Amino acid sequence: MKEILLLGDVHANYPALKAVGDYLQLDRFDRIVNTGDLTVYSTFPNETIHWFRKLEDKAVCILGNTDKRILKILKGKKLKKPKKKEKQVMYFWTCENLSAENITYLKSLHKKNEFTIDGLRIGVFHGSSDDPNSQLFPSTPDSRFIQLAKNSPYRVQIMGHSHVPFYKVIAGVHFINPGSVGRMFDGDPRASFAILKVISGELAVEHFRIPYPLGNVIKGLKKNKLPDIYGKMFLSGKKLN
Ligand SMILES: [Fe+2]
Repeated sequence: MKEILLLGDVHANYPALKAVGDYLQLDRFDRIVNTGDLTVYSTFPNETIHWFRKLEDKAVCILGNTDKRILKILKGKKLKKPKKKEKQVMYFWTCENLSAENITYLKSLHKKNEFTIDGLRIGVFHGSSDDPNSQLFPSTPDSRFIQLAKNSPYRVQIMGHSHVPFYKVIAGVHFINPGSVGRMFDGDPRASFAILKVISGELAVEHFRIPYPLGNVIKGLKKNKLPDIYGKMFLSGKKLN
């Protein structure tokens, strides 16, 4: 049996990522996937990136849209989205506080990645296999999944971005979104992740939600005098308005 831990959209929420790591025995996993968005909205981007860097070859990481924006700002480009100044603060704070090693690591990531396990080709994406900014939900019409399955070289497509966990098998392709480790939008602030098991070519997927010390996230925001909207977002488990 092979086991793959599916993580994504950590958004610099290291207390949540650490809770997931502590909850599981990480040694048992053959791969640990990250569907992107390591950075922005909590104050632990360095700890978060370092956690994945430490995994070395076991980690299968990609760049998310927030990470991409960070790299653009660092290149001197203007931040167009989000438009609200209050929301932009965390992007600039992240750029100022990321270590040189972690910036180099972010620069090394691509918008998609893949690996093969037990002859099973698995693709890792942020939004979808054809567009990093596309959002897939459990309610997304099957026709969209059929389009993504068409000519897919991957038996499994793993994605994040929508922060909504799901597992669907459509047109022979397994689509898995593990949800967001650090920033769920469904009113339940607990960390979300999934485990994919491959047993003699058969796949099994299980989703999890676990609590984490939210107070540490709030302390980090207060210590750095960041806008109250971020704390409210994490406490409520809802999107920023
Ligand atoms: Fe995200």
